[in-house]
Amino acid sequence: MHPPWQQCEQIWINANLATMDPQRPGPYGIVEQGVIGICRGRIRALAPMTELDLSALPGQPIDAGGAWLTPGLIDSHTHLIWGGQRSDEFTRRLAGADYAEIARDGGGILATVRATRALSERELITRARPRLRALLNEGVTTVEIKSGYGLTCDDELKILRAARALGEEFPVRVRTTLLAAHAVPPEFIGRADDYVELICERLLPKVTAEGLADAMDVFCESIAFDPQQTERLLLSARRHDLGLKLHAEQLGNSGAAALGARHGAWSVDHLEHLDNEGIAALKSSGTVATLLPGAFYFLRETRRPPVPELRKQQVSIALATDLNPGSSPLASLRLAMNMGCVLFGLSPEEALAGVTRHAARALGLGDQLGILAPGYRADMLLWEIDHPDQLAAEVGTFAPRQRIFAGEIDHA
Ligand code: NIG
Ligand code: FE
Repeated sequence: MHPPWQQCEQIWINANLATMDPQRPGPYGIVEQGVIGICRGRIRALAPMTELDLSALPGQPIDAGGAWLTPGLIDSHTHLIWGGQRSDEFTRRLAGADYAEIARDGGGILATVRATRALSERELITRARPRLRALLNEGVTTVEIKSGYGLTCDDELKILRAARALGEEFPVRVRTTLLAAHAVPPEFIGRADDYVELICERLLPKVTAEGLADAMDVFCESIAFDPQQTERLLLSARRHDLGLKLHAEQLGNSGAAALGARHGAWSVDHLEHLDNEGIAALKSSGTVATLLPGAFYFLRETRRPPVPELRKQQVSIALATDLNPGSSPLASLRLAMNMGCVLFGLSPEEALAGVTRHAARALGLGDQLGILAPGYRADMLLWEIDHPDQLAAEVGTFAPRQRIFAGEIDHA
């Protein structure tokens, strides 16, 4: 038998593989009736059953019984850790108030900042657990978690530490993003530049010294930080070797997407107001366009991100929950996939690519996660379905039959 198979510690046979590998022809990069072998937490080999002598495989292969295997799902944009809750704002918006108006009144993000500052790291972890469990139960194996509800050095560090601790506690890869530039904190009203200075000079060195963040994000919007302040933050993050992400073109167009692209951002996110110039910039930089249909839905937006243009220009499109207490209290990546199709016009295959291959790139992990191929991490899901279109077409009707994280079968 060919050496790669000899080294495998775990081999699945009789599985339909939706590899999501763009090198394979056809939708989903399907290998029907496939065999996949895992060695030390990574995929070692995969092939159609017909090409192998099954009796020569080492050990006892696991029969998937014709079920489907996909890469683990990746939620590449969440604000999963917060204190308090904001259903009052949901009620106010239903009565006609808008998101920006509530934010200007000191509600919105700043309401969550007050509640989050009041809690300890332990208490924040306790509140975040059920949200994380909900994502995991649906098949999430990698989640990005942003800070941004602390807005002081200590409170931002507290959130990032809580995020890292959740990654230790649960079978999930946690990628952390410093979003200290989420809102101008009350102590700095009218002095946003001083707050930007504090982030660059005091907070970033502490965050990187403790290895607490993988990336930096900025809310570049008229109610938050302007493009100049954003650029200063991006340059500073780059000097600290962090990946870059932006909240861009959500409530209006400020050129933030092109700015992010110019600085080599991994992703720019939201994008309802993205224009052609922005799309061209994303195309040339290879920056991922991350769409967040949850925020669009909860805020009852009407302007959609320019999916046909993004598709035409072959910009990678990721989909994420944007899980947060205000604009997107949505702990379901499967529903986000469905919304990406129904509200934004993605195909079911684009939706799955948006939470696997493209989501991995949005987190700077495109060379190790998001597809089933030799060398990639063995984060995989086994689904009792007839066709992978069902993953976006249905909501709440089925969960993964099996979750495989880093090559280990998750029995939780
Ligand atoms: O991605 N836009 C900024 N941040 C979040 C909203 C956070 C909040 O409302 O608490 C978002 O939509
Ligand atoms: Fe967000």
